[in-house]
Amino acid sequence: MRILFVGDVVGRAGREAIGTHLPNCISRWKVDLTIVNGENATDAGFGITRPVYDEILAAGADAVTLGNHSWNKKEALQFIDECPRLVRPINYLAGTPGTGAVLIEAKNGQRALVINALGRLFMEPVEDPFGRIAAELDANPLGRAVQATIVDYHCEATGEKHAAGHFCDGRASLVVGTHTHTPSADDRILPRGTAFITDVGMTGDYNSIVGMAKEEPLRRFTTGIPMRRFEPASGEATLCAVLVETDERSGLALSIAPIRIGGCLKPVLPSFPNEKS
Ligand SMILES: [Fe+2]
Ligand SMILES: [Fe+2]
Repeated sequence: MRILFVGDVVGRAGREAIGTHLPNCISRWKVDLTIVNGENATDAGFGITRPVYDEILAAGADAVTLGNHSWNKKEALQFIDECPRLVRPINYLAGTPGTGAVLIEAKNGQRALVINALGRLFMEPVEDPFGRIAAELDANPLGRAVQATIVDYHCEATGEKHAAGHFCDGRASLVVGTHTHTPSADDRILPRGTAFITDVGMTGDYNSIVGMAKEEPLRRFTTGIPMRRFEPASGEATLCAVLVETDERSGLALSIAPIRIGGCLKPVLPSFPNEKS
């Protein structure tokens, strides 16, 4: 199975990159399952709305994950229970709307488990992510109950993300870090077969401060005085993603490759030795 995971879509610029590039990526690399992190996808750069969720699905996503900005648009608390492909962090407090793990059918008809989790280091207080993830992995064994498992570990600290990767190694197809909005260069397959990257990077305008127009963050860093709201940067976005190929039987990873298209980052395209005919 081929799995494409697209990092945090930031604002209108990020959505434009999705609309422009995602359908091509899916057809060009014969992607079976596409997941997009949408926690920053509204025009404001924080949260998700129903039209934005629908727009990301229309561009080709099979599931949309969230993060620490899940509820910046309060309407998400209402519509999330009507959206079976919208996944919020699994380790929110009991009673939080939505779900942190969903079973979906990939384009090739196989079953996939998608989990979203929030880290705890330098993040808001949440329940234990590791125990919640383990319960889902145990309930849906890879290669038997599901043919692919993707864990979006949304977290500030690289060490905690590494721990999440090794914790899931051999039990998930892909553990992908999100949230820092900066791609890391450590995409690899862990010893027991799980593909991993510390952070996939954002799909946003990199001529910015983590996706936001530079002026207000710079003012706050240099003077300590907030004057305006943060606004997403509006230049051309770079689509940042990873493409993973899995073994059809085990669901474990055969390869992982970063993708960066458009905007001001250097382009990176995957090359697959076992190109599908
Ligand atoms: Fe984000
Ligand atoms: Fe985040």
